[in-house]
Amino acid sequence: MSQLFRMTPESYKRLVKDAQSDPERFWLRESERLEWSASPSRAADKGAGWFEDGRLNASVNCIDRHLHTRGDQAAIIWQGEDEDNVVTLTYRDLYDRVCSLANVLRDHGVRKGDRVAIHLPAVADGVVAMLACARIGALHIVLFGGFSAEAIADRLADSGAVAVITANVGRRGAKRIPFKTTMDAAIKLRGAASAVRHVFVVSVTEDKVPLQEGRDALLAPLMDEAPSDSPPELMKSADPLFLLYTSGSTGKPKGIVHSTGGYLTWASFTHELIFDHKPGDVFWCTADIGWITGHTYVAYGPLANGSTLLMFEGMPSHPAPGRWWDVIRKHRVTTFYTSPTAIRALMAEGDEIPARYDLSSLRVLGSVGEPINHEAWTWFHDVIGGGRCPVVDTWWQTETGGAMISLVPGAVAPRPASATLPLPGVNLLLLDEKGQKLDGSAEGILCIDGSWPGRALTIWNDDALFRKTYLDPYPGHYFTGDGARRDEDGYFWITGRVDDVINVSGHRIGSAEIEDALSEIHDISESAAVGIPHDIKGQGLIVYVVPHAGLSEAQIVSVREQAVKVISARIGRYAVPEQIYVVSDLPKTRSGKNVRRLMRKIACGDKEGFGDLSTLANPGIVEELITAVAAACG
Ligand code: PRX
Repeated sequence: MSQLFRMTPESYKRLVKDAQSDPERFWLRESERLEWSASPSRAADKGAGWFEDGRLNASVNCIDRHLHTRGDQAAIIWQGEDEDNVVTLTYRDLYDRVCSLANVLRDHGVRKGDRVAIHLPAVADGVVAMLACARIGALHIVLFGGFSAEAIADRLADSGAVAVITANVGRRGAKRIPFKTTMDAAIKLRGAASAVRHVFVVSVTEDKVPLQEGRDALLAPLMDEAPSDSPPELMKSADPLFLLYTSGSTGKPKGIVHSTGGYLTWASFTHELIFDHKPGDVFWCTADIGWITGHTYVAYGPLANGSTLLMFEGMPSHPAPGRWWDVIRKHRVTTFYTSPTAIRALMAEGDEIPARYDLSSLRVLGSVGEPINHEAWTWFHDVIGGGRCPVVDTWWQTETGGAMISLVPGAVAPRPASATLPLPGVNLLLLDEKGQKLDGSAEGILCIDGSWPGRALTIWNDDALFRKTYLDPYPGHYFTGDGARRDEDGYFWITGRVDDVINVSGHRIGSAEIEDALSEIHDISESAAVGIPHDIKGQGLIVYVVPHAGLSEAQIVSVREQAVKVISARIGRYAVPEQIYVVSDLPKTRSGKNVRRLMRKIACGDKEGFGDLSTLANPGIVEELITAVAAACG
């Protein structure tokens, strides 16, 4: 079996050993997978980032260097929601588009180091826009399609974006998603303080949208007129390639900054290794480009490795169940990478749906974003992969740049629902609460020893917060925020977040972010957001709100509606809770700290087994919470 894959248990062991024994030499050798204008002479991050003296451009690595070998090969196959709507961009087409857009941006005064926000539905223009920014050394900030205007406004303000690339609308079945209108509202929220000077609009449909004179322009005519050659900006390895906002335990999302050389080396290295990349592969990662998975495994990893990537505009089961499987059949997809939430939802439709489609092109299946349960893993492996495709459960984070724990096809034996082993060069540690290292089979806090090329550089505008969040909690190690169990063979099983981050369908939501939004409601004195297990989404978001004393019955009823409204407006509809419990107080310690553990257990429907409640300042409140949950669950 193992000879089918590029790695064998022996070559993998050698890789692990090489990385262990001489990391400097190992990573310098791995950096050779990229094309550098000036090759690095040093690998390890000694304070000035990875591959410090190397010079390169990410778009050259994803496009130009492939032109002479695979200029006519499809770089992107884009399948529209309409069956007949297919666009194929060869590497040469991609070059033309990226250069044209790079020229448009330059013509409008966008320069190296400037920030450009990208807010687009699932169209190929998203990847083109990312690479065009990379070409001119501008940092892209891709914004998730589901963000509200306020969420966009916060990110535009924090990043100081000078230009925006958006769409007239997005398509979702018969529905139209108002991208341009949302962007207009976002820019307006900051008024004169907004740094956005230009809004470029991709026409996804024929729908007309208002254009503000002097600021807005349709992108297609500008690109048609622009030359399709554009000299790449030469970047230092540690120059930032992009910012990507993610949620943590503070109310404010953080702009994670990734480097050019280190990040791209990591994207290429991990994409090749974990997906067993081979020429001729058709690689489909279903992530939205607004998340890190969409950066590393829709755009940078596959393109750096000269793969063909598939992008699909539509939803898994629209217009009918089986649509994704039909896309795999039609385009002979070899590698399919998606989330446990999607796998569970598709599993619920029944085995007879995928059985109707020829899925024999598949070679490798992947899962990311949240722990995958045994049943979903097995279904994916047996029903979708026909028992012959390895399932790579890849554990990583926005901050790690690319996968850190994953099965390597052909080399690592699977264990259902385990992300298996750390990749070569990744040194994981399990610590107890006091920061003591745990050996052998153990469960604890997952940390990473030392650095790796894909590690984020910093948090935009807040290096102190980067240190405080990731480096200070366990000095000398990078703190992941996750808990994990390691079995006697060194296999890792992620147990979930140990901080106040909730992972709903693989979307990271900070409880503080929700509570911050809710604090805008005058009738509420306090709130708490917790995550509880959810059959499909992995975790469901539950909110407890405490209205001010003395409100009328009608005011109390309206608190729920206000909460939904304010979360949709501040964050986006994807963050609207499953349940909102209106209660008169929250369980607190004597020092006034909310006891989330208890709130989580009660929200799960537990009625007892809470341990010693005498340490609470207000033990009587527990009964009220239990009653509220029981009433809602009928
Ligand atoms: O809790 C882990 C979970 O997702 C978090 C990272 O979220 P984000 O930065 O949005 O990146 C998601 C895509 C890489 C992690 O801290 N997570 C991610 N992958 C897995 C996972 N949990 C378990 N198993 C995974 N494979």
